[in-house]
Amino acid sequence: MSAEEYLPQQRDLAELTAAAAACRGCRLWADATRTVFGEGDPHASLMLIGEQPGDTEDHRGRPFTGPAGGVLDRALLAAGIEREAVWLTNAVKHFKFTVDEDGRRRHRKPDRPEILACLPWLRAEIAAVRPALVVAMGATAAQAVIGPSFRVTRRRGQLLDGRDGYRLMATVHPSSILRTPPADREAAFDLFVADLSAAAATLR
Ligand code: URA
Ligand code: SF4
Repeated sequence: MSAEEYLPQQRDLAELTAAAAACRGCRLWADATRTVFGEGDPHASLMLIGEQPGDTEDHRGRPFTGPAGGVLDRALLAAGIEREAVWLTNAVKHFKFTVDEDGRRRHRKPDRPEILACLPWLRAEIAAVRPALVVAMGATAAQAVIGPSFRVTRRRGQLLDGRDGYRLMATVHPSSILRTPPADREAAFDLFVADLSAAAATLR
């Protein structure tokens, strides 16, 4: 189970985006509406990685355009980062969900085999964009680019040496802020902004 055989010969972002639309590298394509590939500045020095598209993204075909995207947009604004200036993507490119009795599509976390199956796309994006810093948002992204034993709660905001000339940082996923109890939500948001600001500061 892997996306590897679907990768095109030409590995520029336009070719990758087109090829990913036809990926059958794991089972997740079957129930989802479409592949949601990364987007943004193809020469970005900063790359942000989320988990997987959600319900909204699955319909719209663009990453972070639903509720988590709203939090991310506000945090980027507060950190002085232009969304159009980064490469924004996900560890897994298809929406994984189950359907409730009331017909609601409920997000399911991708498992390790699915993350590994989709990793060739993420690696190809990193190779094409060649960012100076990769920020993994949440455990799924961190485990994809750093390793399965990495704990975001213990090491968020720390600058790590990546391979291939880029550095790595992990922070929380913006949706974790939506799940934080209201009394603590603003503080959680501020910590997320602080991590993004620290990430941006390494690029100056
Ligand atoms: N959550 C993610 O991790 N990615 C998206 O694109 C949307 C929600
Ligand atoms: Fe391919 Fe990734 Fe979609 Fe699986 S989730 S079908 S590996 S693009």
